[in-house]
Amino acid sequence: MLKKNRVMVCLLLLWTSQVFTATAQRKSISQKVDSVLKLMTLDEKIGQLNQYNDDWKATGPVTLDNTKREQVKNGQLGSLLNCVGTARTRAWQNIAMQSRLKIPLLFGQDVIHGYKTTFPIPLGEACSWDLDAITLTARVAATEASASGINWTFAPMVDIARDPRWGRVMEGAGEDPYLGAKIAYARVKGFQGNQLGDTNAVMACAKHFAAYGAAIGGRDYNSVDMSDRMLWEVYLPPFKAALDAGAATFMNSFNDLNGVPATGNKYLQRDILKGKWNFKGFVVSDWGSISEMINHGNVKNQYEAALSAITAGSDMDMESRCYKNNLAQLVKDKKITVAVIDDAVKRILQKKFELGLFDDPFKFCNADREKTALNDPEHTKIAREAAAKSIVLLKNQNNLLPLSKNIKTIACIGPLIKAVKQNKGFWDVEVPGVDSNFIVSQWEGLQNKLGATTTLLYAKGCDIEGNNKDGFAEAVDIAKQADVVVLSIGERRDMSGEAKSRSNINIPGVQEELLKELLATGKPVVVLINAGRPLVFNYTADNAPAILYTWWLGSEAGNAIADVLFGDYNPAAKLTMSFPRSVGQIPIYYSHFNTGRPATNDNYHNYNSSYNDESIFPRFEFGYGLSYTSFQYTDLQLGKRQLKPNEQLDVSVTITNTGKYDGEEIVQLYLRDKVGSIVRPVQELKDFKKIRLNSGESKTVQFTIGKEKLSFYNQQLQWVAEPGDFELMIGASSRDIRLKGNFELVK
Ligand code: NOJ
Repeated sequence: MLKKNRVMVCLLLLWTSQVFTATAQRKSISQKVDSVLKLMTLDEKIGQLNQYNDDWKATGPVTLDNTKREQVKNGQLGSLLNCVGTARTRAWQNIAMQSRLKIPLLFGQDVIHGYKTTFPIPLGEACSWDLDAITLTARVAATEASASGINWTFAPMVDIARDPRWGRVMEGAGEDPYLGAKIAYARVKGFQGNQLGDTNAVMACAKHFAAYGAAIGGRDYNSVDMSDRMLWEVYLPPFKAALDAGAATFMNSFNDLNGVPATGNKYLQRDILKGKWNFKGFVVSDWGSISEMINHGNVKNQYEAALSAITAGSDMDMESRCYKNNLAQLVKDKKITVAVIDDAVKRILQKKFELGLFDDPFKFCNADREKTALNDPEHTKIAREAAAKSIVLLKNQNNLLPLSKNIKTIACIGPLIKAVKQNKGFWDVEVPGVDSNFIVSQWEGLQNKLGATTTLLYAKGCDIEGNNKDGFAEAVDIAKQADVVVLSIGERRDMSGEAKSRSNINIPGVQEELLKELLATGKPVVVLINAGRPLVFNYTADNAPAILYTWWLGSEAGNAIADVLFGDYNPAAKLTMSFPRSVGQIPIYYSHFNTGRPATNDNYHNYNSSYNDESIFPRFEFGYGLSYTSFQYTDLQLGKRQLKPNEQLDVSVTITNTGKYDGEEIVQLYLRDKVGSIVRPVQELKDFKKIRLNSGESKTVQFTIGKEKLSFYNQQLQWVAEPGDFELMIGASSRDIRLKGNFELVK
């Protein structure tokens, strides 16, 4: 006992000294910030609030400007984006070092799912529910990017997304606020590592603040109209989690929220983020979003746009030049005080100090480190594991998978089976001097996996889009010669992403028709679906015996897919977004409210809340995903039936691997607050555990439920846990609930 106390005291002292050091560091940095600020002219201050795109690659509409270098020399620029590589960032930083105060530049980049080594698109990776693995890939991305001149990533994107027509669903973690928050936290920790200031840490940027994922009709950049309760309960939690993880920056968003563009939204930025949440970092606008408020129509011109954005708390202007051209005039006209500008400048300088750029502006520009980091074989290994963990097994009739490595002949068919660069997904970074050769195609992955005794035949069959069926005959011909067919179909990688909204999310072209012809040969067909969003593929879902949803898996895609196909990795991923049966069901998500006339099945439509021509259920639900093995859920134990607000409820359940493969299961805990002062969702994910079990093995999984998990925002937007009955559901997906229990929260 004494020993335990001593350990506790030591830990407390360590913690106190760490807190003390961090506070002292912050204090000394803020003194330094003040001393720099004192030297700055208004023009130089405004310069710090300015961010431009570099000249050679753009991720938005570019403003041609050949005076950028001159402006940097004059101290009129705080940051560049889309400037990568040690050589190029060094060249720009050199120019900044010629300015009067030598304030270093920040280099921001969309390092969304990897830098050189590409990882699965975030939505795919989220399906691993593997928080450590997610932190690790962000860590690797940061290690590579920070060795290549970058000190700031515009990630993670933490927008909740419930509409797969919206192309940007690929960038987030899916539809659920609880899981979204966990993943946001994991990603920020990964990007920022132990602390800003380490050579391998980059600043994270939680985006897009806020509610961008709820664009009406799934049309990118569109308006958002949402209740405050929905905002707080569903859309804000991942942002709060990113903040709790220490995210250095936030990016605001293109959408208006209830009529006020997010960029000029004081409620979001000043009241919530910098006020209630006490965020000490800085907010960057989205690309051009300050001047785009003119198009929204709530400001007349750039002058008013700048006024609106700075007043609302947007600190840095990405590419619109509204700040550069108007802030000085706004001060002169007494529309804003210099103190408002100072606050924004201080926030930015603070981060430049924390990154260590004032000590060494070229800290991230070491060519040797760049070479080593970009060629680290460990990164490749991590990419392969992350990719395998993201693959969702949607169907496996008669245990067609895993395939035997002794198969004699495999017909490899489809427009994506030999694709190379496609595997990178939407947000790849073009790293100078690096071509795509190192990306492992599915074809190459199969070749790597199989020995000389297996023959691989190839036919493209058809294109991703278009009606051309000329290649069908060849495909059918090789299918007939084979023991099994692997068909790789889906979207192009740039069909999901920014500005890639679609009203039709079926598998494009004649790809499903190709499948039909291949199935007619009677050969077993394994379908790989490559996509950045949940697609609609009813024919495939009904008829193909085995389906793997592979998303875009990154540089090791081919090897990871081969690992799964041949059972070297037993798939464990589960969907984090509901897959609709048709566009008409969208938006569709599991944690919906009950109506006054709920429908419980698809057979009865009379005066109830259903579609007359479509199921009420998704094709594949949130939390769904198969394994090569099976898991049995037994022995649900609730520590008590009644708990008080200050008490914890212990829950345990036994999971047994009843199949013949070792494997992992994601055990999901859902709650339903049966009667609330306002309507509560039919179920909400409140915890999960990913466990590994050898064949035949059992494990007891423990959960604890406290007040936090029982709370919600009431009508007055207070975070409360109301006394009453709760239903607890433990399941293998949101629909595949295996065990249920009840408990009561008492006063
Ligand atoms: C616009 C996108 O909305 C944002 O996510 C991205 O970071 C910027 N462009 C910069 O590329």
